[in-house]
Amino acid sequence: MKILITGGAGFIGSAVIRYILTNTKNTVINLDSLTYAGNTESIPTKLKSENYFFQKKDICNVNDLKFIFNTYQPDAVMHLAAESHVDRSIDGPATFIHTNLVGTFNMLECARNYWQKLPEDKRANFRFHHISTDEVYGDLHGTDDLFTETTPYSPSSPYSASKAGSDHLVRAWHRTYGLPVIVTNCSNNYGPYHFPEKLIPHMILNALHGKPLPVYGDGCQIRDWLYVEDHARALYKVVTEGEVGETYNVGGHNEKKNIDVVNMICDLLEELAPEKPAGINEYRELITFVTDRPGHDARYAIDASKIECELGWVPEETFDTGLRKTVQWYLDNRQWWERVLSGKYQLGRLGVND
Ligand SMILES: NC(=O)c1ccc[n+]([C@@H]2O[C@H](COP(=O)([O-])OP(=O)(O)OC[C@H]3O[C@@H](n4cnc5c(N)ncnc54)[C@H](O)[C@@H]3O)[C@@H](O)[C@H]2O)c1
Repeated sequence: MKILITGGAGFIGSAVIRYILTNTKNTVINLDSLTYAGNTESIPTKLKSENYFFQKKDICNVNDLKFIFNTYQPDAVMHLAAESHVDRSIDGPATFIHTNLVGTFNMLECARNYWQKLPEDKRANFRFHHISTDEVYGDLHGTDDLFTETTPYSPSSPYSASKAGSDHLVRAWHRTYGLPVIVTNCSNNYGPYHFPEKLIPHMILNALHGKPLPVYGDGCQIRDWLYVEDHARALYKVVTEGEVGETYNVGGHNEKKNIDVVNMICDLLEELAPEKPAGINEYRELITFVTDRPGHDARYAIDASKIECELGWVPEETFDTGLRKTVQWYLDNRQWWERVLSGKYQLGRLGVND
């Protein structure tokens, strides 16, 4: 298979590419415009074989997309490119509307034009897999409910609203034009190569630098955490074995309060990095409560039974094992995150196959 992956230089997209290049013989075309969140250093050089192509292109540019479809003739698309950070969507929603809605619309139209001209057998096997979030469902404040594939959409932030809109577009392209789409909605991912603005890497790196660990509100917001490599495995299963027109929720069965996550990180660092910055007795003393994020969702929790029963996928990591691996990865891979923090990862970016 030739799989076109958008956003393959991002956190989850790069995990999907590492998984495919390591475990399969498929060809990967990584289409990414390299926003601040894109980092080609998240795909180790040793994995970049003749089966891997990188194209610095923008999903908001229709000519870019036509070029990619015509040149590579993919068998499947995994669409991950997006603006993904909730805080940034509150500060500047316009980019989120443009990338997540207009960009997805462009992807659908270019995929449809390409797919309609494919020979019969290739047409039948083509897949457009749209990767989305559980945040489209809103929150589960004060209930024990879980998000299922039929939970009504009720997004709270500009980010989740733009993703909700993109999900609706994808399903409409299936219903109206018959484009063979599959949608997945997953919970919060964590793991290696996570951009340091997100909660878990932000806390690890701030702690290592002896900086405050800012926790929104009372820290009692609950998220369901999914180890990114478990997610990558789920996404590959869905694109290769999932049923056209279906939605699959992907979650890790790891509901945790944000404050508990931060405490766990501090405790792991006590064990794995006991030599603390000057003047710090214990990492937990760095925890600082800050004004809550506007519209902050109280609880997300995923019912992942459909993907488990129908496709036989289950997460391999518990939160304890996954978080330990994650903290250890940041301790072992200073060069990756130091180049992100210094901005050096953005220097010397090449256009093709770097
Ligand atoms: N991270 C999570 O916890 C999470 C949870 C659920 C769903 N998701 C979804 O999964 C997908 C990937 O998330 P992520 O955390 O890897 O995001 P990310 O922000 O780490 O990566 C996004 C990638 O998309 C690229 N990109 C952005 N705009 C682009 C454009 N116009 N054209 C081409 N490339 C562009 C960026 O350069 C970056 O490499 C997103 O669609 C997100 O909504 C993420």
